[in-house]
Amino acid sequence: MVRETHLRPGALFYPLFLVPGEGVRRPISSMPGCFNLSVDEAVKEAQECAALGLGGVLLFGIPETKDDQGTGAWDENGIVQQGLRTFKREHALKDLVLVADVCLCEYTSHGHCGIVQQNGVGDDSSFEVENDESVKVLAKTSASLARAGADIIAPSDMMDGRVAAIRAALDEAGQQQTPILSYASKFASAFYGPFREAADSAPQFGDRRGYQMDGANVREAMREIEQDLSEGADMILMKPAMPYLDVIAAARERFDVPLGAYQVSGEFSMLQAAFERGWLDRDRAILESLLSIRRAGADFIFTYFAKQAVKLMG
Ligand code: PBG
Repeated sequence: MVRETHLRPGALFYPLFLVPGEGVRRPISSMPGCFNLSVDEAVKEAQECAALGLGGVLLFGIPETKDDQGTGAWDENGIVQQGLRTFKREHALKDLVLVADVCLCEYTSHGHCGIVQQNGVGDDSSFEVENDESVKVLAKTSASLARAGADIIAPSDMMDGRVAAIRAALDEAGQQQTPILSYASKFASAFYGPFREAADSAPQFGDRRGYQMDGANVREAMREIEQDLSEGADMILMKPAMPYLDVIAAARERFDVPLGAYQVSGEFSMLQAAFERGWLDRDRAILESLLSIRRAGADFIFTYFAKQAVKLMG
């Protein structure tokens, strides 16, 4: 009667990591219960998500080969494009919203989220992520994913100006109806560590602090969101979630758009580690962590606990 905040299956989204091949179900060691899946196996996982009433799935791809331009990202026959076409054919998945993450880090040999200009060699080398070149590739990738069947395009790269470029590319590709969920507030975080094993996307040199945000800055996060909305973002995603609940609350207060949060890999893994040692009560901790993110103001949550949480909701 007096409960202020609720969890429901439709507000939870489950991330899937697609890999080439058939019958592949490779455990991700730092994320117990999560797997690299070939498309046929991912279909089974998605069917379970649909049966549980989850809102949707978030798709990442790990290509057969990587190169310095990230060409696998916009390949019409790329791994996520294949996955999307297959998912769209499955009647049992018709109610799942298919969100395509857009970034280059899984596709580039250097592991950065954009196109890199490297200067010098060895210890003397420096590098620059070329913002505008990267944006062009991200826009092309988005159009390709939308054509393949993505319901929502979710850029997670944090380049400047990418939302406007993606909107233009989608419109030009006849995908005027495809919304953009922008990872508008994304901090350079240690909590993405396990994901980088899952997606084989750890940067081979340097780090992501040149394009992701400083964890100390909440006002900057608001500016990033404002900028993405002015460029045409339909919804915004906040990330990570638990260490940044104040940022979620600040965004909720300020912006009247659909707002989601990503409980990222490290948040999942640290809880899993504690569960394995019997240090925390699994069921209560999962629900409490998700409820805290909803209470801070997130309408929907991307979480590796999505399936388990629904089972706990009863
Ligand atoms: C791609 C991307 C990352 C995550 C989502 N999209 C990794 C990163 O920025 O390094 C992290 C998700 C997670 O940790 O679960 N850029």
